[in-house]
Amino acid sequence: MRILGIESSCDETGAAVVEDGTYMLSSSVASSMSLHAQYGGVVPEIAARMQLEVIIPTIDNALKQAACQWQDIDAIAVTVGAGLGSSLLIGVMTARTLAITQNKPLIACNHVLGHVYANFISGTSLPDYLMPKQAPEFPLLAVILSGGHSQLVLFEDHFNYRILGRTQDDAIGEAFDKVAKLLGLPYPGGPSISAFALKGDALRFKLPKAKMGKYDFSFSGLKTAVLRLAQDQAGVSYDFPSFQLSERLSEAQKADIAASFQHVAIETVVDKVLLAVEQYSPKSVVLAGGVAANTLLRQSMHQKLSLPINVPDLKLCTDNGAMIAALGGWQLRYQKGLADPYSLTISPNLSM
Ligand code: KG4
Ligand code: ZN
Repeated sequence: MRILGIESSCDETGAAVVEDGTYMLSSSVASSMSLHAQYGGVVPEIAARMQLEVIIPTIDNALKQAACQWQDIDAIAVTVGAGLGSSLLIGVMTARTLAITQNKPLIACNHVLGHVYANFISGTSLPDYLMPKQAPEFPLLAVILSGGHSQLVLFEDHFNYRILGRTQDDAIGEAFDKVAKLLGLPYPGGPSISAFALKGDALRFKLPKAKMGKYDFSFSGLKTAVLRLAQDQAGVSYDFPSFQLSERLSEAQKADIAASFQHVAIETVVDKVLLAVEQYSPKSVVLAGGVAANTLLRQSMHQKLSLPINVPDLKLCTDNGAMIAALGGWQLRYQKGLADPYSLTISPNLSM
């Protein structure tokens, strides 16, 4: 089965063709990230306007790269949530229209679950992708860390899962983005913090680890602690505006703050993963979502865990169509989420 996946939940527009949920024939992603950089975060109207322009060319690219005609496609999978309403609408309305005009089954996908299913793509005809050597084994522990979600989910099998814990406030990626903004580093914050942190001392500042329920997370206190630390280092009071702070900090101070923040944020996650592995003895751990691209996270997981860890190729960690095409393939196999192309709606607040 060849599935065309369409993803447009945030600032990326992705389309891809994946065979049987495991073999990637193409992946095309158009990003409006550079347009948002000057605002320090995603502006929904700008994202949706660009998505409207690029979605058809992105789908055309994906079909062309896969050397597929419409008759070679068995179904269309699309992200219905969670995400920005205006962005989701572009993908869903496009997918509905194509499902009707091309007479294909339509599959409604959950974006966060899509991130997990990026780990089931184990082969590709495309160059420059580093694929996992084997598919993850059940029971598996999914560590989902993105700009909008941070959660630990235990999967007994496909579509049979239980959420062990989730963030009670900010997502980890959001904390990376906000700390980067505070330090005057470019959006998106994850890659810029981790690059900058290389020059800093991760043990210079002791930042707090939130004490939440066993598997829940909280990153908003850490973000505030970074703000207070930065104000302290800049020698200003707690009401000094955060957007003017970076001018008052030296490069060395900023690098030490970035490194100390990253160290605590990643260690918080790794601690909870170790606890969950001990309690539930999964056969594999999969990392999912944009923050799974983080080098320190990947290194610490490999160092501290002795069981197989699956990590998607960096290009499949952040939002893309291939993860949705892969999820769609598995949903089709398990007959989950088949949707009516005349009535499918978006679900901006969809949770797992
Ligand atoms: O999964 P994703 O592309 O979008 C959402 O579904 O939210 O994740 C985007 C998030 C952003 O917050 C970005 O700063 C973060 O992933 N991110 C990283 C890295 N690359 C992207 N965070 C830490 N380290 C990275 N290398
Ligand atoms: Zn995402």
